[in-house]
Parts: sequence; C-alpha cells; structure tokens
Amino acid sequence: MPYPADERQTPARSSNTLGVNGELIVVDDVAHAFVEILANAWSTRVRDSFSLALSGGDTARRCYERLAASPACVDWSTVDIYWGDERCVAPDDPDSNERLAHEALLDRISPRSINPMRCADGPTAYAAAIHTAGAIDVVHLGLGPDGHTASLFSDSPALFVKDSDLVALNHDPSGQNPHRRMTLTLAGIASARLALFTVAGTEKRRAMQRVLDGEDVPAGRVAAGRVVWLVDREAAPGGV
Ligand code: 6PG
Repeated sequence: MPYPADERQTPARSSNTLGVNGELIVVDDVAHAFVEILANAWSTRVRDSFSLALSGGDTARRCYERLAASPACVDWSTVDIYWGDERCVAPDDPDSNERLAHEALLDRISPRSINPMRCADGPTAYAAAIHTAGAIDVVHLGLGPDGHTASLFSDSPALFVKDSDLVALNHDPSGQNPHRRMTLTLAGIASARLALFTVAGTEKRRAMQRVLDGEDVPAGRVAAGRVVWLVDREAAPGGV
C-alpha cells in the first residue's frame, strides 16, 4: 500500500529546470524518495500486474535495500522484475546486477516473476519478452559520472541501433566501464511509462550539470512516458 504518510520526509524541492529531460526533484534522501515514487506508481498502476526494470550501481543498491525494508509499499506478488542493463558475467559474479538485486532486494521478497538478462541468449529474446509484457511501468536508471545511464555509454554502438531495437549488446569504447553489457536501448527505455533516475553524491554533480546544460550525454537523451530525476543536494548543481 502507499508509503506510510508519517514517514514522508520534508517536502522535496521540485523544479522543472530548463534543459533537463524530465522533472527534476531535489531531495534529502534519494532512496526514500525512490521508494515513495515507486509505491505511488504501483498503487496507480494501469493493470493488475506491474513491471519494474532494475538498475545496477551503488545508488540502486541503497534504493533496493530501502525498498526491502518497506515491504508494505508494494504487493510484490503483482510485480514482474526485469533489468535495464546487465554485465555479461556469471549471475554470481560480484559485478552482476542480478546478484546485486538479489542481495539487496529479491532474496527478501516474492515477486510474480524475475526475468534476468542473459547475454548468451542475445538481445532479441529479451526484447521479445519485454514486448510481450507490454510497456514496462518503471525503468530505474542511474547516472554515471561520465553521463552514461543503464549501459548506454557515449559513442557506444547501442546508441546507434534501429529504433525498433529495444535491447542491445554494448560496451564502453572509452574503457572506463568494464565488461560487455546487455542494455535497454533508448527506444527500450522510451517504451516505459516512467523512467526514474536516482542520482546522489558530489561525484555526480558535473554529469548532472552536463544534462542540465543540454550536453549530448546518453542520460540526457532518455525519454519515456514520464521522466523523473531524483537528485540529492550534493549532486544537484548550484541554484537548482
Ligand atoms: C551499471 C548501472 C549504471 C549505474 C550508474 C550509476 O550496470 O553500471 O546500470 O548505469 O546506474 O553507473 O552507478 P552508481 O550509483 O554506483 O554511481
């Protein structure tokens, strides 16, 4: 059920800043705001089931740990779990996003289905699964210090696929981000009802500023039914 009102934090500052591709909300606690927005998206879902595509990264891990500590906010028996991206490693590899999700959340809940990305199966099979499921309700996204999101890196092949390709294999040509990847493409993210970014920490401030300035970084290209940026005060550029 909806996130208990008495646990709501001080009202978040919201500002629709020119340049950002969506609604930017500056918050004290990104994980708390993530749970609140997810709970609201679930409680206002348009069908009985609800689909959530998970992210990787430390910010995502904190969001999922908070989610696991707030089980009443979502009826997990209605939720289909997908991933926005994955590293092409074994599921029990320390760098696996699937492993991260199990450690932080999935081992403590019982969702309706869990649909991991498997590089060996190729992107077409995953794209077909997503297409069959219909629009993903929420795609959770992070922001890398270099402006990447999911596993969409600047100048990487997955940015240049056909609009009909929802999922692609990819890699980071700069070499900054390890492993071959499987990722939702921009078209795959765009098919979602809500793309929900969580950005925290001073190390993200420059990337956030680049998005606000309209620079061509992958995270700034994201579109969806609705795009919401949850940004903490450390990552929010001055004046936002
Ligand atoms: C991945 C993630 C990636 C992540 C950002 C932010 O597989 O690496 O999907 O897009 O969300 O790099 O990660 P941090 O929150 O750890 O900075």
